[in-house]
Amino acid sequence: MRKKIVGSSWKMHINTKSEVDTLATEIVEGVKNIHNIDMFLIPSFPLIDHLANILGNSNIAWGAQNMAFVDYGAYTGEVPAPTLAELGCTFIELGHAERRANFNETDHYVNKKVKLCLNYKMTPLVCVGETKAEKDDGVGKVRVKTQVLWTLNGIRFEDVDKIIFAYEPVWAIGQTEGANADYVEDMHQFIRDVIASEVGNDIAQAVRIIYGGSVKLESAFELISKKNIDGLFTGRFALTAKNYIAIAALVSKHVQEKEGN
Ligand code: PGA
Repeated sequence: MRKKIVGSSWKMHINTKSEVDTLATEIVEGVKNIHNIDMFLIPSFPLIDHLANILGNSNIAWGAQNMAFVDYGAYTGEVPAPTLAELGCTFIELGHAERRANFNETDHYVNKKVKLCLNYKMTPLVCVGETKAEKDDGVGKVRVKTQVLWTLNGIRFEDVDKIIFAYEPVWAIGQTEGANADYVEDMHQFIRDVIASEVGNDIAQAVRIIYGGSVKLESAFELISKKNIDGLFTGRFALTAKNYIAIAALVSKHVQEKEGN
């Protein structure tokens, strides 16, 4: 059974230690009795250590929004894997649409980062998703398939289910409404099929695929009820503790009712 996930990247919205204090302290308290799902929070690089001190031994993991594609060397301004590992990061977000669009992040570099991340025993959280133009041109699945295949390029079979895919259609990020649950389920099934075609169905069934893009409480239940949607990756909606806690509680309750744990 794939453990469900509720995670949030704070992008560049939570920018000072005192903002982290307010948000994280309340979240820790609000979700302290939830143990049947995985939870994570991802701040900007310089705030990771501060957040880690607050999350400590809680049931919430932390991570980073990006990572350098090499671990040592003359790469001014980059943040390397060994540093993130030492900071206790579990989840490393790679290839987010904003990085692909604004920082020239390509599938090739995402693949290098995935390998490095696995070498340092951290979990790559690889964002894939088609743009509006690709969707309108009928090549959305082609784009997503390319991203998934690039992600898996050169990855050992035994490491594939350590990767988490975040399906984030670019056109659904930062909107009033996200993608509808049927559309997302179809894409998640497609992603799983692509993985299966590379490494077989057993491994593909173990890979977690979460959805991100304008997730809110109203859409959370329908999304999480779908067979291939293994979690929710929240952005703006979960920038208040109340909202993060509400989504985590909803997913946890759903798991409890469905699986009895
Ligand atoms: P959003 O961000 O929920 O604010 O659309 C989602 C994301 O980019 O992961």
